Amino acid sequence: MKPIVWDKGCLRLLDQTKLPLEEKIIECRDYQSVADAIREMRVRGAPAIGAAAAYGMVIGARGIDAGDKKQWFKELEKVAETLKNTRPTAVNLTWAVDRMLKKAEENKHLGIRELQDILENEAVKIAREDVESNYAIGRFGNTLVPERARILTHCNAGALATVGYGTALGIVRAAHASGKDIHVFAGETRPFLQGARLTVWELMKEGIEVTLITDNMAGYVMAKGMVDLVIVGADRIASNGDVANKIGTYSLAVLAKENNIPFYVAAPLSTIDMSLSSGEEIPIEERAPDEVLYIQGRAIAPEGVKVFNPAFDITPNSLITAIITDKGVIKEPYDKNLKALFSDGTRG
Ligand code: MRU
Repeated sequence: MKPIVWDKGCLRLLDQTKLPLEEKIIECRDYQSVADAIREMRVRGAPAIGAAAAYGMVIGARGIDAGDKKQWFKELEKVAETLKNTRPTAVNLTWAVDRMLKKAEENKHLGIRELQDILENEAVKIAREDVESNYAIGRFGNTLVPERARILTHCNAGALATVGYGTALGIVRAAHASGKDIHVFAGETRPFLQGARLTVWELMKEGIEVTLITDNMAGYVMAKGMVDLVIVGADRIASNGDVANKIGTYSLAVLAKENNIPFYVAAPLSTIDMSLSSGEEIPIEERAPDEVLYIQGRAIAPEGVKVFNPAFDITPNSLITAIITDKGVIKEPYDKNLKALFSDGTRG
């Protein structure tokens, strides 16, 4: 399952707005179409939009028509701004674009052709590292999954949301591959239906047992003792361990606490934003009312009603049992333990 494929200067994306009914590939040959695909959520999920934006930088860098290098760098900044301004919450996007800019800056003594090649190598590296991180998250996370576990997940933090394998669903994949007889409950994830359309599709393709529930059934299944653990992904984690993830995540964390169910967040280091002291500082994207008002083009509410459509919420660190990263499992105190993760100079 490859949501993002780089093919000699062309970025091919599996259009996630069409799934599960249609498996359509879109081709991006200019950086504006990469930006559009991210904004319209044809590619989505924090690590996936980071990797897509990195390739967007490569396409943009190759397309710049500049008289000299100074001008070329100026235009590259514009490409970076366009890509970064597509979606505000997932920090992987800014992280990937800034990493590309830094790479160009470090090599500014070279010629434009060489810089373009260096950027392409960097984007390929970002994509490769993402898959490797997900395998590591899967290995660490699997140690927390009991035999015959019933796992509730939200949104889609799977192969589709990354370059491959997935974060929360990477753990599910690792548990399944290690022979554990697991069962997943997928919340449908209104309004964009990533759970119903994407997580279910992804798990069924892989032969992993999955049951679809609507979001408002989560409390019932937890109270009935039908869930052993919750695993979700993240779009941005503040330095104190507060987590921004798909709207509805916070409600699940409260329900898990009430029902004494472990609540795990799975994310690579590229999702952790050490510059923010708490979740209050994380920008929350608000999306168009039509996402709430229409399902598959059909209106489901009276015309003219006011709509509030925040795409993410914040789960406070106090509700999180552990954060499963590619460098290990982090528990309280999150501020101290997350800081230690970056102390090798990886990022911060
Ligand atoms: O709006 P989306 O679909 O991009 O939101 C995705 C999520 O909230 C995921 O849980 C998160 O990005 C982690 S993906 C590995």
